[in-house]
Amino acid sequence: MAELKQMSQSPGPIGVFDSGYGGLTIYSEIQRMMPEYDFIYLGDNARAPYGTRSFDVVYEFTRQAVHHLFNSGCQLVILACNTASAKALRNIQQIDLPGIDPRRRVLGIIRPTVESIGEITKSRHVGVLATEGTIKSMSYPLEIRKLFPDITVASEACPMWASLVEANEHLNPGADYFIKRDIEQLLSRDPDIDTIILGCTHYPLLLDKIKQYVPNGITVLTQGHAVATALQDYLKRHPEMDKLCTKGGNTIFRTTESDERFREQASKFLNHDLRAQKITLL
Ligand code: DGL
Repeated sequence: MAELKQMSQSPGPIGVFDSGYGGLTIYSEIQRMMPEYDFIYLGDNARAPYGTRSFDVVYEFTRQAVHHLFNSGCQLVILACNTASAKALRNIQQIDLPGIDPRRRVLGIIRPTVESIGEITKSRHVGVLATEGTIKSMSYPLEIRKLFPDITVASEACPMWASLVEANEHLNPGADYFIKRDIEQLLSRDPDIDTIILGCTHYPLLLDKIKQYVPNGITVLTQGHAVATALQDYLKRHPEMDKLCTKGGNTIFRTTESDERFREQASKFLNHDLRAQKITLL
């Protein structure tokens, strides 16, 4: 892994990390609500998807990404990826951060998502659609049980969905087969579900298709708003960290794949032109 540069406490951009394009659905909401901040968005597109990878591999890749963002001056990093939040966050917070710089922070997105469901579900039956890694980690049911013990959770892994987005096949008719199948499977596990958490940041890019197969009356919950609100709240409660976040309204986009490909795809997802830099994670 790359050597860590001498850690300084100079202010820097907020780092936003995902395995690929999915984190853009979180970044765009954060940027909309906090336009004065600077960001570095990092997509590990060359190694996406993470969803079917083992715990050790997701932890190692995420660690490399966090090191890169710290070396780029970020004091605060958001893992805008459920798979990384489920499989790497705790180790990074408890094992890595104390040795790197205990004042820096790495935050995940599962907790703020779960906090938001309490007021949404009326039937108290919630469904979770996510990658195989996130589902197998049991992070959602465990976190939901901690905060809302009265809520029943059913889950379904969607092994193809993030790959469809990374391969730019998500709007094609072939995608419907997988989307319909996985939603039907989830609803067959619990017909009382009234709220479905899209527990993967890639899935909002499939929202139009997802809504076609979710019956009326079921709320489909994306994570951007809950995560951005939680981040704003965090920075209010931690003015010492807020001071370490620069505010120039700029974003740098980085990818481990082709910068041209990232530019093309990400511009479509964000609806504006952008430039991207190709980097290597070690
Ligand atoms: N977007 C990520 C998530 O939220 C990961 C998808 C993947 O790489 O499989 O889980």
